[in-house]
Order: sequence, then structure tokens, then C-alpha cells
Amino acid sequence: MSARSRDLPRRSCLSTPGSNERFLAKAPTVTADMTFLDLEDSVAPLEKEAARAKVVDAIRNLPWDDRVLCVRINAWDTQWTYGDVIEVVGHAGERLDEVMLPKVQSAAEVVALDLLLSQVEEVHGLPVGHIGIEAQIETTRGLINVEEICAASPRLETIIFGPADFAASMEMPVLTGGVQIPEYPGDHFNYVFSKILMAGRANGLQVIDGPYLYVRDNEGLRDFAQRTRVLGYDGKWALTPDQAAVLNEVYSPTQEQFDRAWKILDAYRKATEEDRAGAVMFGDEMIDEASRKMATKFVVRGERAGLTRSPAQAD
Ligand code: GLV
Ligand code: MG
Repeated sequence: MSARSRDLPRRSCLSTPGSNERFLAKAPTVTADMTFLDLEDSVAPLEKEAARAKVVDAIRNLPWDDRVLCVRINAWDTQWTYGDVIEVVGHAGERLDEVMLPKVQSAAEVVALDLLLSQVEEVHGLPVGHIGIEAQIETTRGLINVEEICAASPRLETIIFGPADFAASMEMPVLTGGVQIPEYPGDHFNYVFSKILMAGRANGLQVIDGPYLYVRDNEGLRDFAQRTRVLGYDGKWALTPDQAAVLNEVYSPTQEQFDRAWKILDAYRKATEEDRAGAVMFGDEMIDEASRKMATKFVVRGERAGLTRSPAQAD
């Protein structure tokens, strides 16, 4: 299901308001791994319905490369969800990879979207299961149910944290979501990040962090993005082209890490296959089967980011 986009990188996920033709026209020129055309919170209620046709037109006619292409529809607690799916998925054609469902509260909401997508795909001659789902966790109930949500449909490709809505749902005394809170001694979202990451990984999903709202502070973004990169997230939302450039770098392994991962794989293969040893020294450290698993993750992530092994390493 949703075969094309499932394993593509999502280091940078560019948010583009679906009602703004200028931003829509620019979106394919921005170097981002994934782009989502938004019908939800960046579109004013009075523009919601008109934005659907603009988004369809953009998907069908703009020169998208092979990036992941997604539409964020409105949440099930609004009047727009079914119309968004019928109008946009029904007319966008095969280039649309995924639909993003915001403010997911329960597994049933994902199942409902999955069923609706199947009907729309059938009516419009798309392969059933073609459209993937990205689910946003941005309410307290959504976080409580995240494990069931991540297992709710084979269409799911990613699970995403929405820090701004989540801060509101928690009634945190902040006015900007998804940024550092200097008064808090530590990372106020560490539990949330870890819980979503574990639920996503347990179900084979990519795991994505949400927006950083200080859009002029790229160094602040770089610094803040490190916390989910280090935990293991695949990427983060970008609100501007500059943010996308920072994130493409932050969420890629360095060449040095990539080369070292390959060296570990080589050393471990030689140890197990030629020397029949399960654990060997690699420089100053002992490596074993768990090291192979860690190194493999780096290699997969590096290859997704377009890295190749340095020639000196490939002997
Ligand atoms: C994103 O949708 C957020 O609420 O942070
Ligand atoms: Mg939100």
C-alpha cells in the first residue's frame, strides 16, 4: 500500500497554505523532501472550500519532482473533512501520495479516513490503497491513544507531533508552541517526543516533528531540531525555504557517521562470517549484533538522504 512514498525521506516537510496561489506556485521550487498543501489551520474558514480547487490544480499542473506530495485535510470535528477528501483526492490524480489527518484523537478516526479513501479511490479509478495517511498527534487524547492510532491502518506512513495545538490542548501557559521554554529546566516535551517515537517505530512508521514558529531564527531552529534528531526522528516541518535547508542538513547523517557505519558493518560481517565470532573489537569498542542493527539504521538513513560511501572507505 502507498508504495511510492512510504520509504522516501522526510527530513524537511514544507507546509504550504492551500488558499495562497503564490505560495503554491513556489512550493515545487523549494528543496524539501516532502511538501504538504494545507487545507487546515493556515487557511481561513471562509477560504476553505475555494482552496480545494486551488490545491487540486497545483497537484495536477505544477512541476513536482519525486518528493512526497501530501494534502492536509481538516479534522473530523469540523464540517470539511469528507468534502476535502472527496473533492481533493477525487480530482488530484495519481500524483497525490498522501493525506494528512490533523488532531487525531483515536484509532477510529484513522479507520474512518481509510474507509472513505477506499471508496473515493474506487470511484475515481485509483488503485485501492494508493493514498497513504500521515496522522498528527496534537491533543492530549491523541497522545494517550497514540499506540492504537499508529496501528490503525496499513495506509499509515508517518506519525507527526503538532506542538502548537498540543500546547493549547495541555493548557500550557505559552503563547508560541514548539520552541524552547527558558524557564523550564529541561525539555518540556521529552516524554511526548519519546512516546510518539516509540509508538511510530513499533508500527514501522516514519516519525516527524512539527513546526518551529520563529521563522527568522534559523540558528534557533538548528539547535531546537537537534533534540528530535538525536532521539531518532526522521524529520521536521519547514515553514520557509530557509528552514527546509537547515532541516535537510540536521536530519541527515554526516559523511563521517555514514562511513563509520559501513566500516562497522564490514568488520562485523568479517567477524561473524569469516572468523565465526559474535563479538569483536572495533577500535576501542566492542561490537556485536546490536551494533550491526544500529549501523544499518545509519546506512538506510544516509542512503535515503543521498549519501554514498567515501571512495577511501570502499576498499
Ligand atoms: C501543527 O499543526 C501544530 O499544531 O503544531
Ligand atoms: Mg496543529
